[in-house]
Amino acid sequence: MKHEQQNLAVSIFSFMFILLFSALAISAEPQIEIDFETQVLPIFQNRCFSCHSASKADPNGTITKPKGGVELDNVKGIETSLHGEVIIAGEPQDSLLYQRITLPEGEASIMPPSEAGAPLTKLETDLIQKWIAHGANYGKWTGNQSASKPLTTDTHPHQPTVMPPITSLAFSHDGKSVVACSQAGLHVYDWQTLTLQRTIAVQARNTHDLAFSPDGDQLAVSGGNPATDGIIEIFSWPEGKSLHVLRKHRDSVTAVAWRDNLSLASASLDRDIILWDLRTGTSVQRLKGHSRGVSSLCFLDDKQTLVSTGVDQNVRVWNLATGELIRSLNNHTLPAHDLALRPNQIGLPMVASASDDRTVRLWQPTIGRMVKFARLKEAPLNIAWLNNGSKIVAACADGVVRLVDPDSVEVTGEIPALNGWAYSLAVHPTDGSVIIGGPNAQVKKLPVASYQ
Ligand code: HEC
Repeated sequence: MKHEQQNLAVSIFSFMFILLFSALAISAEPQIEIDFETQVLPIFQNRCFSCHSASKADPNGTITKPKGGVELDNVKGIETSLHGEVIIAGEPQDSLLYQRITLPEGEASIMPPSEAGAPLTKLETDLIQKWIAHGANYGKWTGNQSASKPLTTDTHPHQPTVMPPITSLAFSHDGKSVVACSQAGLHVYDWQTLTLQRTIAVQARNTHDLAFSPDGDQLAVSGGNPATDGIIEIFSWPEGKSLHVLRKHRDSVTAVAWRDNLSLASASLDRDIILWDLRTGTSVQRLKGHSRGVSSLCFLDDKQTLVSTGVDQNVRVWNLATGELIRSLNNHTLPAHDLALRPNQIGLPMVASASDDRTVRLWQPTIGRMVKFARLKEAPLNIAWLNNGSKIVAACADGVVRLVDPDSVEVTGEIPALNGWAYSLAVHPTDGSVIIGGPNAQVKKLPVASYQ
């Protein structure tokens, strides 16, 4: 019973946490005091920090200065920008910041500038308006938290959790940078030093998944606004220029998988999977079959067979030539979070799945067989294969990373990595290490090759 409750909690948490986090950020009750850190700061982080963070040097010594002399990532900066105060407590209409975010769309001086995406929503500008009207109180926040701080592996259990969780991680193909996504947008870090190289603003309020195209020249970011719309944004890499914004889902997009350099599939809490053609920027196929939200996708090497899983506990196999659901495999007993194709597989393709039922299961999707499963002490939230296919790495709900041998299905390593849920992980393309991400923007580099 205890376990079931824990599993249920994990399941609800992992699917709802980010949604709740954002609901907090936008539910401006007129009577209720607005909390800067949880409500206003995420908007600044998401939409302004990429241009308005305190001066910082990248690893080459190039200094990036805040645009317009306005720093929004610390209280001092907000109060003493080049042009004086941009916020006048109690007077939203006279506050330059409020004026600039409420200009009509298309106006040259609107913030964020039109090339950095859509204007803030009315909910967001109203929230900022109320916060200024109520006295622009920053609470305990003094700033400079995410934008200019390098990623650290330190954790501060006594500090309040103010940083959003890292929901996905991906290495650039050259292995030199790692991209982390969270509610604060995309942060690009140098892999050797884990220092922040740059941030990239994204349109989605919440982000859930990242994936580089097979040639490494594009990065897809998925997310959305809970229960409203799902967004997939495609960036050029390494430029970080937004190339496409794909919006046909009616709820957050939890996962993206590239089919080739010009097409990809997306999975959403709206229960559908959509295939997109990037030559036209349109949807070409919509796959219906999951009875609840879809959480993960993976293509087999033939690029005709797609495997999906989700909250309905089923692993489903689709034939994209016909658009048909070929089979549904229902061995999981609780929602499933992730799928990963075994690399360098000889013989029938093999896919691993991770579920709240605390198992990692191995499937041969083309013949509809569950081959084996490993039972873990805690629920695996995110899984990946080591590059040679010798182990499955599982980031688990207790912050521990577990290594699973696919042949013996034994857990061969347990490495404590983070405080709290280890939401995300990525395997480095060559150096035998992995990166793990979790709550409060925690990340950790683990040399897993040495634990094998
Ligand atoms: C893509 C970069 C970019 C983003 C994102 C961005 N800004 Fe700016 N911002 C600029 C530039 C460039 C200037 C200076 C030129 C100007 O004033 O238009 C500026 C100037 C400003 C100024 C000062 C205007 C003045 O006259 O002194 C304010 C206030 C401001 N931005 C607020 C914001 C806010 C609030 C956000 C987020 C909601 C935001 N900006 C997002 C680029 C950006």
